[in-house]
Amino acid sequence: MDGKKVILSGIQPSGILTIGNYLGAIRNWGAMQDEYDCLFMLADLHTLTVKQDPACLRANTYELTALYLACGLDPVKSVLFLQSHVSAHTELTWILNTVSYPGELSRMTQFKDKSLKHADNINMGLMDYPVLMAADILLYQADVVPIGADQKQHLELTRDLAIRFNNRYSETFKVPEAYIGKVGAKIYSLQEPDKKMSKSDENVNAFISMDDDTDTIMRKFKRAVTDSGSEIRRAEDKPGITNLINIYSLFANKTPEETEKEFDGVSYAEFKMRTGEAVAAVIEPIRAEKNRLLKDKGYIDQLLAQGAEKAEYLANKTLRKVYKKVGLLPRVRI
Ligand code: TYM
Repeated sequence: MDGKKVILSGIQPSGILTIGNYLGAIRNWGAMQDEYDCLFMLADLHTLTVKQDPACLRANTYELTALYLACGLDPVKSVLFLQSHVSAHTELTWILNTVSYPGELSRMTQFKDKSLKHADNINMGLMDYPVLMAADILLYQADVVPIGADQKQHLELTRDLAIRFNNRYSETFKVPEAYIGKVGAKIYSLQEPDKKMSKSDENVNAFISMDDDTDTIMRKFKRAVTDSGSEIRRAEDKPGITNLINIYSLFANKTPEETEKEFDGVSYAEFKMRTGEAVAAVIEPIRAEKNRLLKDKGYIDQLLAQGAEKAEYLANKTLRKVYKKVGLLPRVRI
């Protein structure tokens, strides 16, 4: 780390990503690599808070690492690593647990949503999930955390925990800021545009996966729900067309205003087709590169090993400081 501001972010390897994850997260990260010291993590421990098939989790972890690389995350410029490879994450979680309250954790929107969705498996990990996320961030003294809007509440909790710990034990953690993109922060379902686009949606037409081929992408956009009316213009009461305008703009590198101008007088059907084409033009080469990288798992293992080493060094520095502050005796080496 060479004195630049530090960025940390992560994604759970819990299935193939949607363009929501891409636009809300990875796409922004690539552009930050020159300006910041970046750590990009795969939050594999977080996935265990809902039931995972072990073989699928392993496969998804390789998939997501390959996708990080295919989207332009550079293992030379940035640190790419698995959360489970750096034991300081779970160790700091324990310490932060002692300054976290069940009341604040049970109030988290995502905990409430996931408890409804996984009513047969409301485990302690699900409730403790934001504390692990706080540990991920605070271990690296991150200045900025780029996330989609759905993670904002977890970042606020991270800030609260950092401040609480600092007040109790003296200045230890940097208090991080969220970075939430203006347009891509929340991409909505193509079928129910008042709901977040999610890879766990039962209706596959509701999301575009980063693994969808061009035909599938075109078909899904063709079926995308639009609103009454015919103008390509954003409006609060027109969530369907607003979402499509945002998606098109991000993939075509335009502002929403430019998009509205470009499609003035064009039909919904034509606009949906053009949106599908713009999305496919970006996703197709990423998918091809990801699949090429996946053929060499040895290479991915090597990169992750190097990333873990760099991350571990930084994380342990903070963890040692924390252990000392709370009064744990340092281990004497013999
Ligand atoms: P996860 O894996 O659910 O999502 C990864 C990132 O994608 C963003 N995102 C979206 N953005 C826009 N529109 C959508 N429809 C959409 N869906 C998802 C999320 O906001 C997120 O930025 N707890 C985190 C992972 C994590 C983490 C961290 C993130 C673990 N530790 C430390 C930052 C820092 C999660 O489950 O994200």
